[in-house]
Amino acid sequence: MKIVLAYSGGLDTSVLLKKFIDQGHQVVAMTLNLGESDMVAGDGSQDALEAVRQKALKLGAVDAVLVDARERFIEDYAFKALAANALYQGVYPLSAALSRPLIADLLVETAARYGADAVAHGCTGKGNDQVRIEVGVRAKAPHLTTLAPLRDKPLSRPDAIAYAQAHGVPIAHTAAKPYSVDANLWGRSIEAGVLENPWNAPPDDAYAWSVAPEAAPQSGSEVVVAFERGAPSVDGKTGAEMVFELNKIAGANGVGRIDMIEDRVVGLKSREVYECPGSVTLIEAHKALERLVLTRDELRLKAGLDQKYAELIYDALWSSPLRGALDAFNAKLAERMTGEVRLRLVRGRAVVTGSRSPFALYDESLATYGAGDTFRHDAAGGFIQIHGLPVAAGAAKAAQAAERATPELV
Ligand code: ARG
Repeated sequence: MKIVLAYSGGLDTSVLLKKFIDQGHQVVAMTLNLGESDMVAGDGSQDALEAVRQKALKLGAVDAVLVDARERFIEDYAFKALAANALYQGVYPLSAALSRPLIADLLVETAARYGADAVAHGCTGKGNDQVRIEVGVRAKAPHLTTLAPLRDKPLSRPDAIAYAQAHGVPIAHTAAKPYSVDANLWGRSIEAGVLENPWNAPPDDAYAWSVAPEAAPQSGSEVVVAFERGAPSVDGKTGAEMVFELNKIAGANGVGRIDMIEDRVVGLKSREVYECPGSVTLIEAHKALERLVLTRDELRLKAGLDQKYAELIYDALWSSPLRGALDAFNAKLAERMTGEVRLRLVRGRAVVTGSRSPFALYDESLATYGAGDTFRHDAAGGFIQIHGLPVAAGAAKAAQAAERATPELV
């Protein structure tokens, strides 16, 4: 069989690659650049990932591809989620969840290019990621088989190391990794290890992109996020580069740390820690501009739809028709989402300190308590009479009923 394997270069997927080859399969290794290495190296180079690609070839892959998917991830996945202010359970910007449908799409595209019969991933059976990748593959290529050997037969770390040593798979560092980490430009997730006891506070070494809010500079930093029909930019930077810069600035101010008990698709609760400095800042800015330019009715309806959108991403339903319909709704509103939001990033908080837009529905002459007030104060009395009519009628009926129920005193 010819198999395209989503390959990170870590121990598990390296063992998987070698096992497939030993079983007589042809393996094409596919490695993605989603910006995690930028956050580590800070230089935008793909050297570390090129080394991963070389490792796959050395292990015997018939070919190994490195896909720079940073821009596609940010523009086609993360920014659609931004339009929906997508936060799962009110706090998690869905960084890992958003990357899975893209991984699925790229597996399918790579399989088509190589004429492969199957795609494979190294997810375990307990997580959301297997669901997201496999539902994504089914949506685009129902004829493809998806192989998930680590789900079907979990591989313990000692077994993986033993297999690696016996089969010439290089092991980068044998020291047990304290956490399970997944990262891309939209955020970094940290789970397992000491975090499994939800009473344990996350140790400092869990974080890599942010400083502790209490250790951040008191002075903070100011950023202005500009939106053009919903598309954000900061100091003229857009897309992946802008998100990278925001991760740096907001992370240095302790913004975007999240520690939550999360409800997984597969039914269990898990303890998850995230650091998402850039995405948290962008979502705050986007919400602030919406409050300025959207009508009250639009905002009320959108709040519910936004929650649904986040749930679709989380629940592996990125490819559902409903998500497409919600995108259309958000795109319609985005026609007026042009303007600027200023934020102060300080000690763990992204505080909006100003907003302006040519589409602002805010009208100072209506809102002012000072001179130049144009609001019709005299109209308010009549408005209250009519607006309160159902309440007044209901109260009158309740009073009558109470009177009937009270026994007459003679
Ligand atoms: N719980 C998060 C989610 O489902 C993060 C998953 C991260 N994946 C990982 N293999 N560490 O979106």
